[in-house]
Amino acid sequence: MIFGRVKSLDAILATAEKKGLHRSLGAFQLTLLGVGAVIGTGIFVLTSEAAQKAGPGMMISFVIAGFVCAVAALCYSELASMVPVSGSAYTYTYAVTGEILAWMVGWALILEYAVGASAVAVGWSNHAVGLLNGLGLHIPAFLSNGDALIANVQMAFGASSPDLITASQVGGYFNLPAVIISVLVTLLLILGTTESARVNAVLVLIKITALTAFVALTIPVLNATNFTPFTPTGATGVLGAAASIFFAYVGFDAVSTAAEETKNPQRNVPIGLIASLGICTIFYLVVAAGAIGAMGAQPVAGLTGGVLSPGSAELAGRCASIVSSGITEPLVCSKEALVHVLDTIGWPAIGRLVGLAAVLALPSVVLMMMFGQTRVFFVMARDGLLPEKLASVHPKFKTPHVVTAVTGLVVTIAAAILPVGKLADYSNSGTLFAFMMVAISVMVLRVKDPSRKRPFKTPAVWIIAPLAIVGCIGLYLSLPLIAILVLPVWGVIGLLVYFLYSRSRSHVGLGHDEVPEIEAEELMPPRPATF
Ligand code: ALA
Repeated sequence: MIFGRVKSLDAILATAEKKGLHRSLGAFQLTLLGVGAVIGTGIFVLTSEAAQKAGPGMMISFVIAGFVCAVAALCYSELASMVPVSGSAYTYTYAVTGEILAWMVGWALILEYAVGASAVAVGWSNHAVGLLNGLGLHIPAFLSNGDALIANVQMAFGASSPDLITASQVGGYFNLPAVIISVLVTLLLILGTTESARVNAVLVLIKITALTAFVALTIPVLNATNFTPFTPTGATGVLGAAASIFFAYVGFDAVSTAAEETKNPQRNVPIGLIASLGICTIFYLVVAAGAIGAMGAQPVAGLTGGVLSPGSAELAGRCASIVSSGITEPLVCSKEALVHVLDTIGWPAIGRLVGLAAVLALPSVVLMMMFGQTRVFFVMARDGLLPEKLASVHPKFKTPHVVTAVTGLVVTIAAAILPVGKLADYSNSGTLFAFMMVAISVMVLRVKDPSRKRPFKTPAVWIIAPLAIVGCIGLYLSLPLIAILVLPVWGVIGLLVYFLYSRSRSHVGLGHDEVPEIEAEELMPPRPATF
């Protein structure tokens, strides 16, 4: 039977017992962990993309995306506290809905983590390029983004417009800084770097200070007229922006997966989750309000009148034409939204410092996402679904170096050639699928195994889980068409791999459903845990 291969929850739990992590985290540490993993490219860069989709209405988009994340997070935490082992949603679904769906979730998590890491790397690159520019070190356009490459590919397929031609002339072919940061983070992971809690706390402080400075300088110069029209693209635009800006909240699973190390998880996990999501939502809202009020955030239309899609080569070309005509670059055109706002309202030096904050803090977000990816791959390989070679551990560094190198390669290639908005959208399509499956799994497990110990129980699960499912589907359907298609296409490739390779080699399928020796897992804390 195709759905018959379910991994025994007891076997998984025995694995967790072996790890026996010390319960040391409280609500405050969890909140710091969450804020550290969440604030990143989303607010520093994608604010312009959200503005291009929704105009000032992006403030509603931030609230919608934050709400969907909050309900999904509450579901995530129940499973994370019951099944506290590596592999996140992949492991949970293996125990609940069986191998094939778990495989699909693991496959979708590649989009979440690996493609997400690429998106953050490109966001980092935008700020690094800007910062170096400010210091007089100019990185040529052809080495700082992939806009010309995309424009040329589109034109090779017959598309043509003056904006595309401009993009092909002024855009780039290869995002060198994004490649450099991806390779550096890969090397750090191979050497066994995990971020210490102290470093995380310092980076959180840097990010919060940068956002606070932004708000303090923009709110006094708010101009109410910049808020009208509030929703120039209507409800569709607001939902579309919510689907994209969802990326700004991804990363909270760091809190859910810390449940096993948390004192009194029933109380502290929801506080940590809701507090970190709440803090991020409030910051995002005031930052968005500051950006809109200080310089306006109306979408840019193409030459034929329609609003251009964010991250598209057409928009890049249009923006280049606007800038070369001497008009101030609109917010929606900026590759470093917050820095650009501060520049425009007369605070260029503080803008540089905000750029520096992004340059300092974003690599840790890349690191956390790549770390998540290596652990998912590692567990899938250990289960026999991917080549076992991937699960080999380096004799000296004690890290899964092969899987880390493979992950690094994927992240680096995607970051080299794709724009941040597209990467974030593709990442979101995988994440939303994984979150939906988690919400389904929570309900299935409540029915199938009601008496099992749940260190954390989702409150009002029969309301929260369906809300999470509806929210995930709604946001998924609001993504751009290509991002919507990425998931099924990626899924079909995944199914081919599963039936041609993994199914016949699965350890559960072969009847080896024993607790594996996971020496490597013990050596690899899944998050900064050394508070
Ligand atoms: N939420 C993270 C970011 O915005 C992934 O960079």
